[in-house]
Amino acid sequence: MKKSIKIDYSKVLGFVPQSTIDGYATPAMECMKQLENGTGKGNDFLGWLHLPSSVSAELLQSIKQTAKVLQENCEVVVVAGIGGSYLGARAVIEALSDSFVALKERQAGVPSIVYAGHNISEDYLFELQSFLKSKKFGVINISKSGTTTETAMAFRLLKKQCEEQRGKEMAKKVIVAITDASKGAARTTADKEGYTSYIIPDNVGGRYSVLTPVGLLPIAIAGFDIDNIIQGAKEMECICASQSFAENPALTYAAVRNALYAEKKNIEILVNYHPKLAYFMEWWKQLYGESEGKENKGIFPSSVNFSTDLHSMGQWIQEGERTIFETVLSIEETNRELRVPSDEENLDGLNFLAGKRVDEVNKMAELGTQIAHVDGGVPNIRISVPQLNEFYLGQLIYFFEKACGISGYLLGVNPFDQPGVEAYKKNMFALLNKPGYEKESAAIQERLK
Ligand code: PA5
Repeated sequence: MKKSIKIDYSKVLGFVPQSTIDGYATPAMECMKQLENGTGKGNDFLGWLHLPSSVSAELLQSIKQTAKVLQENCEVVVVAGIGGSYLGARAVIEALSDSFVALKERQAGVPSIVYAGHNISEDYLFELQSFLKSKKFGVINISKSGTTTETAMAFRLLKKQCEEQRGKEMAKKVIVAITDASKGAARTTADKEGYTSYIIPDNVGGRYSVLTPVGLLPIAIAGFDIDNIIQGAKEMECICASQSFAENPALTYAAVRNALYAEKKNIEILVNYHPKLAYFMEWWKQLYGESEGKENKGIFPSSVNFSTDLHSMGQWIQEGERTIFETVLSIEETNRELRVPSDEENLDGLNFLAGKRVDEVNKMAELGTQIAHVDGGVPNIRISVPQLNEFYLGQLIYFFEKACGISGYLLGVNPFDQPGVEAYKKNMFALLNKPGYEKESAAIQERLK
């Protein structure tokens, strides 16, 4: 059996005693039962819970087939989506890609992946269209509702450009839609144009959808092994079903972070020591922020990339307001090996490192930081990940999803809705005079007088 991710909360115990954490074991178990039995809040959005063990071989085969069509016909693929409709794919693709992939010559048969539909920046969209001008490109239009303005507007621009540049027939081949089975403009367009399309199951919310075609198709196009992601997630589904508090990392993580929150540790900082994980942090922030931040409750999820940010945020973390705790993603084995060379003159005084792996230095930075931050009053949870590959990313994704469901229930909120996201949209539509928003338009104009 392969290794698996492990959680270590020993460096929390100086802040919250083991007996307090043990007090969360039974409620956490109850919350897990509610998830499993579908008796908790938001129980019509639990489709993600058994996705890894239930995804069909036919669906995975079809995704790989579609990925091949795009790989054979595109130099660049634009993944258009926002929030849960793009962060999971980007998190995995960036974690697995060479750090300089964008600057290197493209590997034959693997298109470059770029992103759109996640902002409304005119400069970004203009520059994207300029970049695509001489390229054979395709588009994956990802939107569960099929009506999200950011994504819909980007797709309108890209569809037109693709058809003009590549012709209507080729555009049909290289545009794929991932959306609802029947509702929304993305579905209407896909059906009318005859695009290849995939369905986002009704019972899987955006931020829990990375293990559906939403994440799997872009990841496969980028050249990564989606079977291994599912395999890792499936193994974690099994581990996180355990009734034993100590052996179930999802139960443990959910309990420990709620115990810390009760001690007024209101901010959780997810920490990595490998810059490739920067977008994984973004995915995690959305998962926890959108799931728990409601009813005036919820830990504020934030992130830092160490050691880079030790030179910017390190001071605050060491000595600022003591309302934070850290969760460190610690990668046990790097994928590459590099040693520090020795230097006869030793002008930089670094010969004490000569012959050491760069990762050993990184690991000592990690340990030194943990000791310093714990001494400075910052509880530390450590999640160790055996290696950065598809299998363990699959494990990590499922672990965080399951823990988030349990943690949200422990907090007493519905971790599967996001009512607060509508507020800005309503105002934006009113300000843009969208039909149907006449009353809101009048009211907002009055307020702006
Ligand atoms: O998690 C969520 O539900 C959201 O982040 C959505 O994914 C995001 O708002 C995009 O919505 P849609 O997929 O409908 O375009």
